[in-house]
Amino acid sequence: MSIPLDVVIMAAGKGTRMKSSLPKVLHRLGGRALLAHVLDCASRLAARQAVIITGHGALQVEAACAGMAGGAAGLGVTFARQEPQLGTGHAVQQALPFLQDDGITLVLSGDVPLTQAATLQALLAQCAGQRLALLTLNMADPAGYGRIVRAGAQPSSQVRAIVEHKDASDAERAIHEIYSGIMAVPTRLLRRWLARLDNQNAQAEYYLTDIVKFAVADGVAVVAHQITDAPQVAGVNSPVQLAELERVYQQRLAVGLMEQGVRLADPARIDLRGTLDCGQDVEIDVNCLFEGRVSLGDGVRIGANCVIANAVIEAGAVIHPFSHIEGEALGVTVGQGALVGPFARLRPGARLGAEVHIGNFVEVKNSTLARGAKANHLAYLGDCSVGERVNYGAGSITANYDGANKHRTVIEADAHIGSNCVLVAPLTIGAGATVGGGSTITQEVPAGVLSVARGKQVNIANWARPAKKPKG
Ligand code: UD1
Ligand code: CA
Repeated sequence: MSIPLDVVIMAAGKGTRMKSSLPKVLHRLGGRALLAHVLDCASRLAARQAVIITGHGALQVEAACAGMAGGAAGLGVTFARQEPQLGTGHAVQQALPFLQDDGITLVLSGDVPLTQAATLQALLAQCAGQRLALLTLNMADPAGYGRIVRAGAQPSSQVRAIVEHKDASDAERAIHEIYSGIMAVPTRLLRRWLARLDNQNAQAEYYLTDIVKFAVADGVAVVAHQITDAPQVAGVNSPVQLAELERVYQQRLAVGLMEQGVRLADPARIDLRGTLDCGQDVEIDVNCLFEGRVSLGDGVRIGANCVIANAVIEAGAVIHPFSHIEGEALGVTVGQGALVGPFARLRPGARLGAEVHIGNFVEVKNSTLARGAKANHLAYLGDCSVGERVNYGAGSITANYDGANKHRTVIEADAHIGSNCVLVAPLTIGAGATVGGGSTITQEVPAGVLSVARGKQVNIANWARPAKKPKG
């Protein structure tokens, strides 16, 4: 379709029922602001711009938009302030200075996060730059919504008006077809109709929905594009509704993963707050949370109760239950066939090579472990480079922080670090060296040597333990 498209997103409302100091459109669904979902959808429509109507918490909303997907996807965003908020018609009036008459205006709400681009494409096709196209839905319980009033009883009868619930007669309240809050309008007509709005209604507001009767009066066709998938037009007004939509969203993502072949132990017990790319034959057990950008290679298995963020897990790796992997900006890499956990913690900059083993209660931060290195129990590796096949004993740590600066530890290939060692950085342990258990190492250990740095054992024969004096 060659008609230019402008998207207007209403986001000025207060969201009183959220009972929160955060503006409603910044509450998160799937880890992202509600408004980010709407912008993301708008950016898939080849719109030339989005005009966001802000009011309550305007500064916060405008600042938050800077980091949102719509902007990154190249959709130009303009803000129009609406102060005070006198209704949805008044809201769209604030966008008019930014709209050109050659286009279609698509009106969306910042608190309706699950609309799909294909639905809006179909609505735009109905508008076709000539008609007023309304997205509608039949609801079992339509209370509170604007009703689609038609000229006759047939589902195909001409649309005459939208009547708000508070203004509706009993007969109108019996109508189940509701207006979703989403419409597509030829901009030149929108401008003409908005000029005619008044606030003579039950809420003393300027209703955008009143333009339907102006269209009818002007002989412009009004079409209702009816959908059946209610979550696509469901708005968030309360924490309960937010949680309900979160479940719907997660269920849809889980189904999408399974359709790609990912095996989820239970699609109701996985949470995605970002992007999860999966290879073939990936298995994910229950209660796992994925955040940011995560990719799982072919045959990866994720045990129950793992939290994984900003990480690349390569083919064949196994993450055992209760592991926490958080790459933040630096990322985490788990190499092919590596074994991690249970109860492992991988922090930003952890780079595990192929076949590396990281066991329970082991923490790795900003460290590279080469192929086959193992740290199986109760250990800390921070700011270090660990060579191939190194065995890092239980309870050993790198003392990488002197109170002011961080220092690096280098452990070369085939070194063996005994249990309960303290490696005080900066330090190099040479290839093939052995460090005796319980050592505190403060100086370089040359390749191939045994280094022991601890008090010598003394055995005293015939020594009697102190005994209590007999009473009496
Ligand atoms: C609106 C529709 C109703 C429809 C319903 C669907 C009108 C008059 N009514 O009602 O027919 O069934 O949505 O959910 O349009 N907003 C502003 N500025 C304002 C008022 C609202 O930006 O002055 C924003 C809100 O933040 C929200 C959106 O517009 O994002 C809708 O406003 P809301 O008050 O929820 O409209 P409803 O009364 O629910
Ligand atoms: Ca609403």
